[in-house]
Order: sequence, then C-alpha cells, then structure tokens
Amino acid sequence: MTKKISLTGIKPTGMPHIGNYLGAIKPAIEMANSGNYEAYYFIADYHSLTTVYDGKKLNDYIYEVAAVWMAMGLDVSKAVLYKQSDVPEVMELNWIISCFTNKGLMNRAHAYKAIVQDNEENGRDADRNVNMGIFSYPVLMAADILFLGSDIVPVGADQLQHIEIARDIANAFNHHYGEILKLPEAFVRDDFATVPGLDGRKMSKSYDNHIPLFLPAKKLRKMINKIKTDSTEPDVPKDPDNSLIMDIFKLFADKKEIEDLEAWYRRGIGWGEAKAELFKVMDRELEGPREIYEDLMNNREKIDKVLQEGRDRVRPKAQELLAKVKKAVGVMA
Ligand code: TRP
Repeated sequence: MTKKISLTGIKPTGMPHIGNYLGAIKPAIEMANSGNYEAYYFIADYHSLTTVYDGKKLNDYIYEVAAVWMAMGLDVSKAVLYKQSDVPEVMELNWIISCFTNKGLMNRAHAYKAIVQDNEENGRDADRNVNMGIFSYPVLMAADILFLGSDIVPVGADQLQHIEIARDIANAFNHHYGEILKLPEAFVRDDFATVPGLDGRKMSKSYDNHIPLFLPAKKLRKMINKIKTDSTEPDVPKDPDNSLIMDIFKLFADKKEIEDLEAWYRRGIGWGEAKAELFKVMDRELEGPREIYEDLMNNREKIDKVLQEGRDRVRPKAQELLAKVKKAVGVMA
C-alpha cells in the first residue's frame, strides 16, 4: 500500500515555546518518525515575509525553526524537511491557482477579516496595514499543499479555514481541467490538552506567559520560580488537582512520578520543592535537545545541508505536477 502524503508548514517567527512544542511539534515529529506516512515538513519563509521586514531576523528565524525540529528528533532521513522559498515551482503554481480563486473567498478569510474589522472599529481605513501578501496568504498556502498532492495536512484548529480554501481552489481548477489537483484533508489534533502558561492561562506569546523551548538551564529554573503560588506553609497538605506546577509537571513526567508527587502534595510539600521537581523533569527532556540545538545554530552549514537535501527530494515532484498544470492551462505544449 502506498503511504499517505502528510505535509505541514511552519511559519518562522521566532523560538517556539513549550506549548507549541507539546501541542504541535512533538506530535508532528512522532507522526513523521512512525514511518506510517510520507511526511513533508517545510519552513514557510515567504509566509513570514507578510509581516517580518527585517532580513537578518527572518534569516535567523528560518535557522531556529529548522534547528528546533532537528534537535527535537525529527528523523530527516524519513521526513523531508525543506524551505518553501527553495521550491520556486510553488510560486508559479501560486499565480496559476490565484486565477481560479474568487476574491470573495479571500475577503472571508479569518486573518484578513480580523485586521479589517480592527481597523474599522478604530475608525481607520479598512485596508490599513494590509499588504497583498496578507490578502493572498491562503492562495500561497493552497499552492504549498497542492503542488505535492498532499493527502493530509496536520494543523491547529485555527488553520482549518485555510485547508477548506485549498480544497475550494483545487475544485475550481479541476472543474475546468479534470482531476489534476488532489483535495487535501485537514488533520486537527484535539487530543492534546492546551498547555497552561506561567499565569495559568493558555500558554501564548501574546499573553507573555510562555516558556521558550530552549533556554539555558539557569534561566529555565528562574522562569519556573516565577510561577505564582499562595502562602501556605511548606508542611501543610496541598491539593494536587488545583496546582499549576502540578499541571505542567504532568506533561513531562511518567505515571509513577506523577503519583509520587501527588502523594507528596497530600503529605505537605514546600512550593520551592515542587518547583525543583518540575524543573527536574522539564530539564531532563530538554537538556539533550538543547545541546543539539546550540550545536546546530553554531554550525549552520549542517542545517543548510539538510535543507538542500530536502529541496532536492521535493523539487522533482513539484516540477512534475507543475508541468501537468501548465499543459492543462495551455501555457506549455
Ligand atoms: N499558515 C500556517 C500557520 O500559520 C503555516 C503554513 C503555511 C502551512 N503553509 C502551510 C500549514 C501549508 C500547513 C500547510 O501555521
């Protein structure tokens, strides 16, 4: 049986946090390494260009994202890791399919609509701060997905509309030329608990309550120490079901460790001790990858090599599909 093609894009916008890791990166790596899919993971650098206007920064972000995935154990002999801008065929397909994309469909895209709404509510021109890249973002994303004939696209729930748009565009194209573009399915992971941040709300950069994935151990320790606790005395019994430290601990510890710490809570644990236990399990998981990450960031040619290999594996497939598309529309004989 041929394996299903699973593809997803990661927008390089800075160091991911623990919530991104547990909610998206870790399950995606497990999926790729399982060998049950033909997995393609790419760095969506042109999507970042809609908002990141600092070339040095964007370039760093690209390396950071690649290094995170590699350090966290993505098996790049199984999964193909590549950079969107290394596959110019995507841009050609982007233009072609944009000619089959209703402007009205783009008007309804959530991200664009949110900016317009914010402008209107604040009495500004509706299109202020909207460049054409933001407006056509979903078309480029459709090109990312369609050039490879992707079967499934693992994404967060916020990206569902984009997959629907990709299907709409593929349908519109196929309507004229036959079944050339494959309709992708979204694959939303909802079995992962949202990871709480340092203040107990969902971990998010916009709440400024996040723990970056790779911090020097000392800094990680300091961040954990910032978790707010009450003033109950160390030897007073505490409720493990009502503790942020415990909630985060559970995401990194095994069953036995969780039971042990719960028992310690009920006997009476000092918050300092609970935090030390949390640091131990977190650092255990992150210590090794952190070293690999540092090494990769200091030897970027190792990352270049992986991305070049990825490009060489994916480009022939892009060229094949693009030739079909160009023949169908008549620009190629
Ligand atoms: N828009 C996606 C995000 O912000 C990133 C992305 C770009 C993507 N192209 C894609 C995801 C193609 C899946 C498939 O997370």
